[in-house]
Amino acid sequence: MRGHVWLVCASAPVLTACAGPQSALAPAGLEATWVAQLFWVMLIGAGLIWTLVIGFAIYVTRLNPQAHSEKAARRLIVWGGVVFPVTVLSALLIYGLALMPSLRAPGDGLRIEVSGEQWWWRVNYSPPRRAAPVTSANEIRLPVGQRSEIILTSPDVIHSFWIPSLAGKVDMIPGRTTRLVLEPTRTGVFRGQCAEYCGTSHALMAFSVVVMPRDEFAQWLEKEARPAAMPRAPRIQKGRNLFLATGCGACHTVRGTRAKGVIGPDLTHVGSRRTIGAGTLANNTNNMVRFIAETQRIKPGVRMPSFGMLPDKDIDAIAAYLDSLE
Ligand code: CUA
Repeated sequence: MRGHVWLVCASAPVLTACAGPQSALAPAGLEATWVAQLFWVMLIGAGLIWTLVIGFAIYVTRLNPQAHSEKAARRLIVWGGVVFPVTVLSALLIYGLALMPSLRAPGDGLRIEVSGEQWWWRVNYSPPRRAAPVTSANEIRLPVGQRSEIILTSPDVIHSFWIPSLAGKVDMIPGRTTRLVLEPTRTGVFRGQCAEYCGTSHALMAFSVVVMPRDEFAQWLEKEARPAAMPRAPRIQKGRNLFLATGCGACHTVRGTRAKGVIGPDLTHVGSRRTIGAGTLANNTNNMVRFIAETQRIKPGVRMPSFGMLPDKDIDAIAAYLDSLE
């Protein structure tokens, strides 16, 4: 019984890592498929070699412990200790290098610039044949079956951009530009996460990745490029006025209004995103209210101060306005 409990406990982290929207072993992209393939080749290969070595050890210590001739022992060392590892490791090196995604050409698809901020993601889409880039944050949408080039930067500290289901991870390094080519193979919603410790809220620096059919993606991008709609309902209008009057626009942009701040995420279409605070909370009005009032408690150390000093009804109106920005 104890043996079973131990086995269950030991296998839990392994098994839970095999499924879900953030698993390198449930690939949904070409690069991730190669990573998973490399993992399985190495795992199975290592298992076979381990079994062979243990088999030899049991053979010489238990099954046939008589002295072996010096000539046979030397031959075993040369073949088993030099030739075999050199061959296996060289083959693995060649196989692994050939899979490196940096060897792939960027293609003529979409170009997306992602900047790692403390602790959120600034996203700029530069679609071909379009003059102005489309700015968003904390959510990346990609067309299925098309190569997209992701250009990665950071203004201050090192982050690591990782969508386990789609590709390997690439660091975002201040003063340098790194790149990643992604080709999603199936539609769905996946999760990305910063994979390099970057400060207090590093663990709260996630993002959603939505892989869509190509025509849906084109429609979405068209919509995302538009400025925010002017609200009609009086309550939402009140929220808009409060948003502008309380200075939110010093840090946030809402295209179509005078809010043009660039310190925080662009909020033009924040209501259509899946999460708030870079994957920290599900996006709904309740959570929006909480995030505005208790920012520093929900996301410690982030640059946005908590706005709990505002009257509750004002926060409610601002949250309702933000939620309406679809
Ligand atoms: Cu950004 Cu860790």
